Amino acid sequence: MESNVSIGLLGLGVVGSGVIKLIENHQKELAHKLGCAVQVKSVLVRNPDKARDVNLNRTLLTTNPDDILNDPEIDIIVEVMGGIEESYKHILKAFAAKKHVVTANKDLVALHGIELQETATENKCDFYYEASVAGGIPILRGIAEGLSSDRIQKVMGIVNGTTNYILTKMSKEGVSYTDALNEAQELGFAEADPTADVEGLDAARKMAILGRLSFSTNVSLDDVEVKGISHVDLEDIHYGDKLGYNMKLIGFAQCEDEQVEVHVQPTLLAKSHPLAQVKDEYNAVYVYGEAVGETMFYGPGAGSMPTATAVVSDIVSITKNIRLNVNGAQAVPLRFERKLKSPEEQYSDFYMRLHVKDEAGVFSTISSLFHEHDISFKRILQTPMKKLDLAEIIFVTHETTLGSFRKAMEELYRLDVVLDIKSHYKVEGDVDDELAGTAETL
Ligand code: HSE
Repeated sequence: MESNVSIGLLGLGVVGSGVIKLIENHQKELAHKLGCAVQVKSVLVRNPDKARDVNLNRTLLTTNPDDILNDPEIDIIVEVMGGIEESYKHILKAFAAKKHVVTANKDLVALHGIELQETATENKCDFYYEASVAGGIPILRGIAEGLSSDRIQKVMGIVNGTTNYILTKMSKEGVSYTDALNEAQELGFAEADPTADVEGLDAARKMAILGRLSFSTNVSLDDVEVKGISHVDLEDIHYGDKLGYNMKLIGFAQCEDEQVEVHVQPTLLAKSHPLAQVKDEYNAVYVYGEAVGETMFYGPGAGSMPTATAVVSDIVSITKNIRLNVNGAQAVPLRFERKLKSPEEQYSDFYMRLHVKDEAGVFSTISSLFHEHDISFKRILQTPMKKLDLAEIIFVTHETTLGSFRKAMEELYRLDVVLDIKSHYKVEGDVDDELAGTAETL
């Protein structure tokens, strides 16, 4: 039997408690796999007197991070306290003390992950962060190891459970965004302050990490264009459904000729796309590799025990590296300086809903404008709104560039006959005709 591996845990919230429980519940399996026991030696907490539902000797608790970071017997620091500044400082200190680090902190990894990885490698330490993206889904390992022989071209993710729950609820039950959000908060999916989730920032952090790893390039959080779901209207969900699409908050990362685009936005996703059927609070990441083609990884993106599985699996990897004396050797340096695609290089189909004057020649004026930008329509719906004396036009374009679509939209605003552009969305995937409902096809 090898000597035990000792863990210093920074934080004992939802994830930290899950880590303690998982290590305790699975100790036989872990000992069999590692040839030693995994032992939590010390835990940093803010309030040692707080009641907790974990079986833990109170003498292991400390309020002083240095008790853990300076303890020569601790091999691995597990950072599950969240926040950025303090966690960042503790992790740098851990590397300086030649301790390996596991973190579940996507905010920190999205902002400082590249630098922290370099510091870890310089100190011959491991730095693992599987739990930072999509909780219980082993997507970072899936990409870094399972698909390491392939050239990844595209990654699309439903990587935020709160927004997926809200959009599923709006689509299935026709409830408003506000009602769906309130219910998500009552059920504990959404935070009391849901801004980072609903405005797409949480997903953007995860997509920055996924983009970096998938394309071996230094994608930063600022490179991710973000739009959240707080303005998604039930009407667009309804029209999207009629046209054969489900509304999803999609994180999208693509690399072509070493140029990348990464964004997060509500997207109308063809119902035939594998991600379109991912419902409620579940997460999924779709990865398209040049050789493998389509793959999809599905599971719980949050929660105490699912996230703990990712954290403890990282502990297992580090412990194996300790046995082999290869810590710090697993990280592959980034290969490319990132080059971002311009809007003229980003291709997609687009959806738009607009209100126009209900009079002769309006549609031909609009279609001429789009024709000037070389944009053609794939599907069109038109509904007179007699009470308001206007017509509502909904269309999906054939593939065009974001640049052309934006220019056409700017010019639309200047037309007298256009009263308002109510909404516009990116569209992904091809609709099977039988799923397109009663939509007219031009
Ligand atoms: N708040 C996140 C979600 C989970 O709703 O998916 C943690 O990243």
